[in-house]
Amino acid sequence: MEIDIGNALDSVATPGVSRATLERLDGRVADAHARIEAGLDGRDHGYAALALPETADPDAIQAAVDPIDCETLLVVGIGGSALGAATVADTLDLDIEVHTLDNVDPAHTRELLDSLDLSRTAIHVVSRSGTTAETLANFLVAREAMDAAGVDWTERTLVTTGQAGNLRNLAERHDLPALDVPTGVPGRFSALSTVALPAAALGGGDVEALLAGARSEAESLSGSLFETPAYAYGATSYALAQRGWRVNAMMPYAESLETFAEWFAQLWAESLGKEGVGQLPARALGATDQHSQLQLYRAGPRNAMVTLVRPRDRPDLPIPETDLEGLSYLGGASLGGLLDAEFEATEASLAAAGRPSIRVELERVDAHGLGELLYGMEAACILAGELFSIPTFEQPAVEWGKRAARGLLGGGEFEEARAVEEKTRLL
Ligand code: PA5
Repeated sequence: MEIDIGNALDSVATPGVSRATLERLDGRVADAHARIEAGLDGRDHGYAALALPETADPDAIQAAVDPIDCETLLVVGIGGSALGAATVADTLDLDIEVHTLDNVDPAHTRELLDSLDLSRTAIHVVSRSGTTAETLANFLVAREAMDAAGVDWTERTLVTTGQAGNLRNLAERHDLPALDVPTGVPGRFSALSTVALPAAALGGGDVEALLAGARSEAESLSGSLFETPAYAYGATSYALAQRGWRVNAMMPYAESLETFAEWFAQLWAESLGKEGVGQLPARALGATDQHSQLQLYRAGPRNAMVTLVRPRDRPDLPIPETDLEGLSYLGGASLGGLLDAEFEATEASLAAAGRPSIRVELERVDAHGLGELLYGMEAACILAGELFSIPTFEQPAVEWGKRAARGLLGGGEFEEARAVEEKTRLL
């Protein structure tokens, strides 16, 4: 993964971040890196995620999925327990179909289950806590649908969960194969683990290459943002946020990375949105969103930086020649060439309007490239969290909502639920 921060630097047009500021910030990056290294060595909560390229066990994951014979995988999870698998499945060329059941919209759940041949479907149910209401509810509905279709769901279900919790109990009661969520790895940092890799392994994806890509980013971590692509991204985004660039639009120029932008949005929002700081992540897709969101990023409030991601090499498709006047410039070009031109035009148009952007380049959008991107953005996020001095690995606001919803459904006594009831009465 290569990062180019040239268009985020201060210039006549762009009030970005100056080279001198970054040089000063580099001392704090060195301190942050020392804390990250110590956390990684001690496998401390959160930092342990950065050890996954070494600690993940692709053989154990392969062994867990080998007995499963399916054409479709239904990943039942939410947030960090779903977005990693969705990203892996949408980015890699897998030989199974993967669907994610995260939301509990009854119409969607019904429609999705009705559309599947359940006799050829496997379920991977994922919950680190093992208590998340949406995940457990969707799983109960999905297994009931399998029962109704005469399919033995116990033969077609794989569980990934923590050491304790309702899901662990359920796996034990039905003797379901179960993988552990690695200790110290929060949901949104778990893509390179038993949480998301089973989808890749089941679909014939190159898990080793994914981990190798991640490992190459891990090896590049150093005490300087000028030598570490992930830290260059994290530190520059932090410095821009401090200067008022409070929106970060993630805009990959590759259709298969659209879900990656969604994964990034969760990582960035849930990790950094604390104590009044953070950056609002926006999900965009090049070139599609040049025809919508770009107007805002270029001419709306001066608060948005754009992250432009592209592969250097991609399978291409020639554009046929035409003698139609006005279209001849397209003939002989290619869709990939056009997409690259759009990428560069967007970058230049933002710079001309004085709006900062950061360029992220991969060699290719493949398992190795995705491993680089996932790990690189996780490391960038952890560094940004250190610079903001916030508890990156906690998500109290998310937990508040979880407890409130459980309480409202009678799943326990939670003061958060009482607060909702009180508020409802006030309305
Ligand atoms: O990143 C996080 O911690 C969250 O998004 C969780 O992944 C999400 O809330 C699901 O939690 P669990 O895996 O416990 O079901």
